[in-house]
Amino acid sequence: MPVILAVANQKGGVGKTTTTLNLGAALVEKGRKVLLVDLDPQGCLTLALGGRADEGGSRALFEQAERPVAVSEVGEGLALVAGGVELAEIESELGSGGQAQRQMWRQRLRRVGSKYDYVLLDCPPGLGALSLGGLQVCDGVLIPMQCDYLALRGVALILRVIELVRENQNPRVRVVGIVPTLYDRRTVHSDQVVAAAQERFGELVFNTHIRHSALIKKSPVAASSVLAYAPRSAAAQDYRDLAEEVIAHVEKGKSKRR
Ligand SMILES: Nc1ncnc2c1ncn2[C@@H]1O[C@H](COP(=O)(O)OP(=O)(O)OP(=O)(O)O)[C@@H](O)[C@H]1O
Ligand SMILES: [Mg+2]
Repeated sequence: MPVILAVANQKGGVGKTTTTLNLGAALVEKGRKVLLVDLDPQGCLTLALGGRADEGGSRALFEQAERPVAVSEVGEGLALVAGGVELAEIESELGSGGQAQRQMWRQRLRRVGSKYDYVLLDCPPGLGALSLGGLQVCDGVLIPMQCDYLALRGVALILRVIELVRENQNPRVRVVGIVPTLYDRRTVHSDQVVAAAQERFGELVFNTHIRHSALIKKSPVAASSVLAYAPRSAAAQDYRDLAEEVIAHVEKGKSKRR
C-alpha cells in the first residue's frame, strides 16, 4: 500500500506545488515509485509537468459513479493524475459528503496508487473541500512554509485544521513536517522566521530549508523537475535532502516528532 502524503497549506504561493513536484522527483531518485495527484483547479502541477490542465483527471477520484482515473507516466517511476478547472465544478458537492464518501475516496486513491510507494497530493490554497478532502484521505501532511512572517503565522492555522480533521474525520492523519521554503540566506528575516518556527513547532520543522532559486522557477518551462533540469544545483540538493528526511520519518520512524 502506498503512503499517501498531502502537501497542504491554506496560504497561497508558499511552495506546495513546487515541493510536490521536486520532492516526488527526489524520492524517485532514491528508488521509490511516486504518483503525484494534482488536486488544484489551477492545475499548476499538471502544467509544470507539461500536461494539459483542462481535463480534470483527478476529478474522477471524487465522483459517485466509478470510472477509470487517468494516470500518465511523466518519467521513470513518476506518474501524474492531472488536475484542472473541472475540479472547481465539484468542489461544492465534495463539501457536503459524509464519512462513507470519504471512505470511498480513500479506497479509490489507494487502488489507483497501489503500484507506487508514495502518493503526493498537491492541495490547492484555501480551506475548501478539495484541500480538506486531501487532509481527510491522507496518512500524513507536509506543510511548506515560505520564510516570511505572515506565512509563519499561517502555520498555526493549518496545524489546528489538521488536528480537527484527525479528531473528526481521519484519525490516521499525522503532520510529517513543516518545510521552510523560499529561504533566502542573504536576509536576516529568513533565519528569524526559521528560528521562530523551530521555537514554536520544535521537531516538526524539517532541518532542510529549500533555498530561493531562479532554477526552481525556470524548470517548469522545460516541463521538468529542478532535479532533471539542473541536477547539480543547490535547489536539487535541497530537495534530495528533504527526501532523505521524509524517508527517515515515514519509513524508518527515526523522528521524534509528535
Ligand atoms: N525555492 C524556490 N525558489 C524560487 N522560487 C520558488 C521556490 N519555490 C517556489 N517558487 C516559486 O514561487 C511561486 C509559488 O510556488 P508554488 O506554485 O509552488 O506555490 P503554491 O503554494 O503551490 O501556490 P498556490 O497556493 O497558488 O497553489 C511559483 O512561481 C514558484 O515557481
Ligand atoms: Mg500550488
